[in-house]
Amino acid sequence: MYYAGIIGCGKIAELRHAPEYIECEKANIVGFYDINIEKAKRLAHMFGGKAYYSLEELLADDRINIVSICNANTAHARDTILALKAGKHVLVEKPMATSYEDCENMVSCAKENGKRLLLGHNQLFASAHVKARKLIKDGAIGRPLVFRTVFGHPGPECWTGNPNSWFISKERAFFGVLGDLGIHKIDLMHYLLDDVAVSVSANTSTLDKRNPKGELVDVEDNASCLIEMSSGVQGIVQVSWTFNAGEENSTRIYGTEGVMRLYDDPKYSLIIEEKGGAVIKMQLDSLTSNEEQNTGGRTSTGIIDEFVSAITEDRPSRADGKQALKAMRVVFAAIESVETGRRINI
Ligand SMILES: NC(=O)c1ccc[n+]([C@@H]2O[C@H](COP(=O)([O-])OP(=O)(O)OC[C@H]3O[C@@H](n4cnc5c(N)ncnc54)[C@H](O)[C@@H]3O)[C@@H](O)[C@H]2O)c1
Repeated sequence: MYYAGIIGCGKIAELRHAPEYIECEKANIVGFYDINIEKAKRLAHMFGGKAYYSLEELLADDRINIVSICNANTAHARDTILALKAGKHVLVEKPMATSYEDCENMVSCAKENGKRLLLGHNQLFASAHVKARKLIKDGAIGRPLVFRTVFGHPGPECWTGNPNSWFISKERAFFGVLGDLGIHKIDLMHYLLDDVAVSVSANTSTLDKRNPKGELVDVEDNASCLIEMSSGVQGIVQVSWTFNAGEENSTRIYGTEGVMRLYDDPKYSLIIEEKGGAVIKMQLDSLTSNEEQNTGGRTSTGIIDEFVSAITEDRPSRADGKQALKAMRVVFAAIESVETGRRINI
């Protein structure tokens, strides 16, 4: 049995981690910690367990053997390392950390302490993505050639309800949309194509996202990356916090024999259009949007079950820190590309 402590008690803890621990047969929640004790008390009241007054107090509780880290990006590395050293397995939210060195330290700390480190890269568990990886391997679209993957919504304030949250502050978030949404899609393309990016050329801008004073925020609200994979496949990752009319979260992969469309049709989550004209449509799950999740239309992402079963079965996970590290390398290379105006080889 696993006993969870949740660090950071905002939206993702409330809407995803805590409910998924409650649903997981092999896990119980022991308690919560947040720098704002009222938020920890609120979730303890909603889900059961205690509110801890300090991180040290939570980590010193020997009943807790797994932790979820759900706080602001700039605290991920420090808290992950403290938790691993305290003997806990860790599931940390994306983006993993705010420097590549910190990401590497997190992975090596897990190894040194014999504990698991997984990332909240929940898109890897969406059923059309899982099915797509297998179909691509089986040659359903021939040899993959190019892809286009898009993730955009109206911005983090629509998710957290806070127009001045840490998400829109360079100092507290470090990344804008590139780290926030881009990491999901870069890691997803590694997974779908069973490949790894070898070069990236990126562009970022702050076009329309403003703080409550009406000033443009100091992190990017749009990013586009042109990526080349080791197989030669090339593709575009487009992420945005200014899709003001609603969320888009879709992928197309074009191969020698056809195109695969993922989550770009309201009814069918996986469509294959073959070059001869045949069309195969599969109705699998839908990717829960921020809006649906905020209005009670939540579906389980499976990330907590994966965390717990990867530990129990002592098997690798597609959400392992080691995998996430490869995707974070691409995010940092994209930042270097923006800063230098050059394509960066990874
Ligand atoms: N996997 C996903 O799809 C997904 C979706 C949304 C958010 N996230 C990630 O989850 C994390 C939290 O996002 P959120 O939407 O819940 O934000 P949020 O602002 O709603 O909640 C963050 C919470 O962390 C607390 N906090 C900040 N610094 C802390 C610290 N040092 N120690 C303890 N608590 C601290 C804040 O008080 C707040 O309660 C972020 O890293 C975000 O990128 C992941």
